Amino acid sequence: MTPAGFDLLLVDAHLATMRGDGVPYGTVRDGAVGIVGDRIAWVGRAVDVPRDAVARRTQDCGGRWLTPGLVDCHTHLVYAGNRANEFQRRLLGATYADIAREGGGINATVRATSAADADELAAESRPRLAALAAEGVTTVEIKSGYGLDTATELKQLAVARLLGELVGVDVCTTALAAHALPPEFASRADDYIDYVCREMIPAIARAGAADAVDAFCETIGFTPAQTQRVFATASAHRLAVKLHADQLSDTGGAALAAAAGALSADHLEYTNAAGVAAMARAATVAVLLPGAFYALRETQSPPIAAFREHGVPMAVATDCNPGTSPTTSLLLMLNMACTLFRLTPEEALAGATVHAARALGLTDRGTLGIGQRADIAAWDIAEPAELSYRIGGNPCAGVIRGGRVARWGA
Ligand code: NIG
Ligand code: FE
Repeated sequence: MTPAGFDLLLVDAHLATMRGDGVPYGTVRDGAVGIVGDRIAWVGRAVDVPRDAVARRTQDCGGRWLTPGLVDCHTHLVYAGNRANEFQRRLLGATYADIAREGGGINATVRATSAADADELAAESRPRLAALAAEGVTTVEIKSGYGLDTATELKQLAVARLLGELVGVDVCTTALAAHALPPEFASRADDYIDYVCREMIPAIARAGAADAVDAFCETIGFTPAQTQRVFATASAHRLAVKLHADQLSDTGGAALAAAAGALSADHLEYTNAAGVAAMARAATVAVLLPGAFYALRETQSPPIAAFREHGVPMAVATDCNPGTSPTTSLLLMLNMACTLFRLTPEEALAGATVHAARALGLTDRGTLGIGQRADIAAWDIAEPAELSYRIGGNPCAGVIRGGRVARWGA
């Protein structure tokens, strides 16, 4: 037998493999990970590493914990400007919906994003992606939706892909053309959806600019019927779908998403029992966004107990956006998911690794398992629950991306 050969061998580490083997966090204490090329080739206890194994490089992890690289599966991080003024107005009593109806909210960011050229947009957005990467995030989904016309949506999606290369993060792009009604279509939402379906989605698909299509199904967004048209168009172009569903009211969004075979339904504060059951049947991931819940001072939590009961996988994401979730900390979202939604720290970490990957349709990452992409984060923590316990702070000590040490130490 030829000896095992690794390009990189990680030793002196504790592993939170998240492989769902019944052991909390899939823990392996005093473990090691062998990497060949961009894949994990061996995982287990250090004492079991084959004695004749040869490694081109060995990384001593100094007793740190290793987890899968984190996955932020729902962001709107490419935008210009900010909406601190709306934050102040909401504190004085205006609601998110009031501000949207007056032409602020999403449309305010559309104006700023349309006015910025691609370079300006990239320069403003890059620190947000870099902040996520600094916390051990190796895969990020980025939505458009601050263009609402073909050229500006394409500009946002192109900037998202460019930033992935510049910052060194895998970026999945999602076309969210049905995010808000632009003023030129006021009182003509069906005409706007015609434009989205006849022109925007086909152009985005032709350009190969998006991996999926999303919509905002809400009283201040689009109706279920309009959302269905967007989904049908996406499917005709072989694009996966996901949905901003039941965030502010119960529009039956979760069931609608599940019926369309959506990868995920996101927000879900007002999702009803039928919606939960439909998501379970369709294996649609529930993406929880505690940052938006917190910032809008919502009081109704998503139906966490029902998701658990039906075995609906739960992901946790930042929803990084200038209106409802101006954060770039996925770790803070893990804390909020536990404190506000009563997830366990293990559920929260699964929500930012394996379940987040599934929410993006990715099965090649999210666990420390043989054959998975070697995207790994190293942490200065004594136990994995610390990742959810802290309110702020960043214990990320290193990142391996695609089998290469992207960062180690300060
Ligand atoms: O996920 N709800 C719709 N979309 C975003 C908010 C976007 C914005 O306000 O700019 C969300 O909360
Ligand atoms: Fe969102």
